[in-house]
Amino acid sequence: MGDSPYLVERMQGFGTTIFAEMSALAVATGSINLGQGFPDEDGPPEVFDAAVAAIRDHHNQYPPGIGIPELRHAIAAHQAKWWSLEYDPDTEVLVTAGATEAIAAALLALCEPGNDVVTFEPYYDSYAACIALAGAHRRVVQLRTPDWSFDAAALEQAITPNTRVLLLNSPHNPTGKVFSVEELELIARLCVEHDLIAITDEVYEHLVFEGRHVPLATMPGMRDRTVTISSGGKTFSCTGWKIGWICAPPDFVDAVKTVKQFLTYVNGGPFQYGVAVGLGLPDDRIFQIAATLGEKRDRLSAGLAEAGFTVLPSAGTYFLSADIRGLGEHDGVAFCRSLPERCGVVAVPSVAFYDDKEAGNPLVRFACCKRLDVIDEAAARLTGLRS
Ligand SMILES: Cc1ncc(COP(=O)(O)O)c(C=O)c1O
Repeated sequence: MGDSPYLVERMQGFGTTIFAEMSALAVATGSINLGQGFPDEDGPPEVFDAAVAAIRDHHNQYPPGIGIPELRHAIAAHQAKWWSLEYDPDTEVLVTAGATEAIAAALLALCEPGNDVVTFEPYYDSYAACIALAGAHRRVVQLRTPDWSFDAAALEQAITPNTRVLLLNSPHNPTGKVFSVEELELIARLCVEHDLIAITDEVYEHLVFEGRHVPLATMPGMRDRTVTISSGGKTFSCTGWKIGWICAPPDFVDAVKTVKQFLTYVNGGPFQYGVAVGLGLPDDRIFQIAATLGEKRDRLSAGLAEAGFTVLPSAGTYFLSADIRGLGEHDGVAFCRSLPERCGVVAVPSVAFYDDKEAGNPLVRFACCKRLDVIDEAAARLTGLRS
């Protein structure tokens, strides 16, 4: 399948197939689904009330192509308040159908067929597919276990004369890595030296439990060469709304908008009002969201360790990765396929996020964004694995 001349067939190898299989297994076996990353509780009530009010106030037709002014202003104010990044809400902000569309539209708009795109592996599964859709080639730099560090020389070598875009995800799915300031400085220096455009996926910007998130656009020389992407779904526990955005200089926004208008044109009118309210919530409410998730991460982490997994560090996001070799297992795909039957829990095999299959094979990803009682029950079931 991977060698097929047909793009659509090659794309079937890009992760979603195995994730769909795992979600179907969860339903078929009534298992606890710690595979797909979605919370099982609603987020801040004001956010949800604002969307309901928008529907009742008749905001149910096509919103403006670049997003409603309330949301664009809220995004610009959010970037200024949290990250000291100033964007013009009319020319430097674009609302998209989730971060997913923003990633696709940015890659399609900013890459030429034949360009190289540098990214880190494991990578969020849409990256490989969207790079392929753009006719570009991915060149990956590995985040190595056990600490998710990367080799600076490997990053430098991955950049070729054909490289146009560096695609960075921090906080990072599936590892939970939050790139450090030193790492970001290095990445920024290379982007400037090689005149690269950075596309940054920051959907977990507020879901950090250790260290702090620093947007790449704040690094020297980066603001005007970076397309910053985020989304309301993760922070406000409304992943089904698919309200995302980009912040970038006007030329980039225009280019991405040109592609975006032929993908979805617009989406989620009433939900845009909800996310606008969310972005304006007081700091302590946002910190509380991360603190609650951090407690869940700790609980799942302890449960997995108790069950015999080697738990890898996660400083943020919805996810934790674990090595299964301590359980006498080596093949993450076979392990995840057997898990629902063996103990009624679903996880996803991390190999779907890797080019280097050997590195990814012994790793599995668990979502920690579930209620504590659900995590406890999953942990209790997993403990039975060793007996
Ligand atoms: C790293 C990363 N980027 C993007 C997305 C997609 O975001 P959205 O739901 O806003 O399209 C996800 C969702 O899981 C993600 O983990």
